[in-house]
Parts: sequence; structure tokens; C-alpha cells
Amino acid sequence: MRYVTLVQLFDHPITQKFVKRSGMAHAIACAYHAFRLAQEHDVDPDMATKAAFLHDIGHYTWYRDGQWDYQLYKEYDIHAIKGAERAHKLLIRLGEHPRVAKEIALAILLHTDSYLPEGELELKPLQYVVALADEADEEPGGEHHYRTIADERARQMLGELDKIVEAAI
Ligand SMILES: [Fe+2]
Repeated sequence: MRYVTLVQLFDHPITQKFVKRSGMAHAIACAYHAFRLAQEHDVDPDMATKAAFLHDIGHYTWYRDGQWDYQLYKEYDIHAIKGAERAHKLLIRLGEHPRVAKEIALAILLHTDSYLPEGELELKPLQYVVALADEADEEPGGEHHYRTIADERARQMLGELDKIVEAAI
């Protein structure tokens, strides 16, 4: 059983504010990739799609003189840490099962290693699927963060994905 749907997440003001900041089109594309990858890797599609949808919810806008500054981002960004905490709080507020909320938060925390000291991370299958889903939608120069999608279309695509996930569990 699912406690929280993608559409419920989409409708929440926290998601509207922070997922839109990092790119709603990217978040939805990743959620779809995550569904496919979850099937391939025998991972729970409910957790994979929600984690992928929320994986960039912690993004901060690194601007210098009105321009996005990739150097600042590379050096100081901790969006995975912030995102894990933000997604966890949102999921719990919406009534998510605490076990699921924790798994999703951990997958978000580990979807990138850009903020971690050098070394190899051994990812669990769910965490690996979310990292792969993000990579699958990446465009050079971070362009994937700037693709746009109309609210109505976004909500409709998530509603469709909700149905596909429900049918698969
Ligand atoms: Fe991403």
C-alpha cells in the first residue's frame, strides 16, 4: 500500500517552491526513469519514483552578480543533505510511513557524491536506481535544471505515473 502519492507531493507548497527551483521537468523525467530502473533492479517502484521526484528538493541557487555560478555550486553545495532532510519532513507531514520516509531520505542523501570526501560509496539498490535516474536525465552544463513544464501537464504526468506504480505493486 502507498501512503503518499506523487500528485500529493506535487500539490504541496514546499514541492512547488523547491522542486520548481531545481526544475520540475527534470524531477518528473527522473521519476519516470526511476520507475523503469526500479523494474530492472527489482526495487520498490513507489519509493524509487518518489525519491527520484524529490532528489533535488534541497537545491540552493548559487548566484554571483545575478548569474548562476557553477564554481560556487561545485565548492559549497550540500543540496543532497538539505534535500534529504526537506523531503523527509515533507513526507512525514503528508503521512508517509516512517520506514519509507527514511529510505527515500537516504536515497536523496546519496544520489550524488559531489559533496563527499574522495572514496567509493557502496549504494543499496534503491539508492543506485535514484542516482542512475538522475544521470539518465542529465544534460551538459546543468541544462536539465532549466527545462520547463506547464503545471497542468506536470500534474497529469505524475497522475499517470501514480497509476502505473499502483498497478506494479
Ligand atoms: Fe538531478
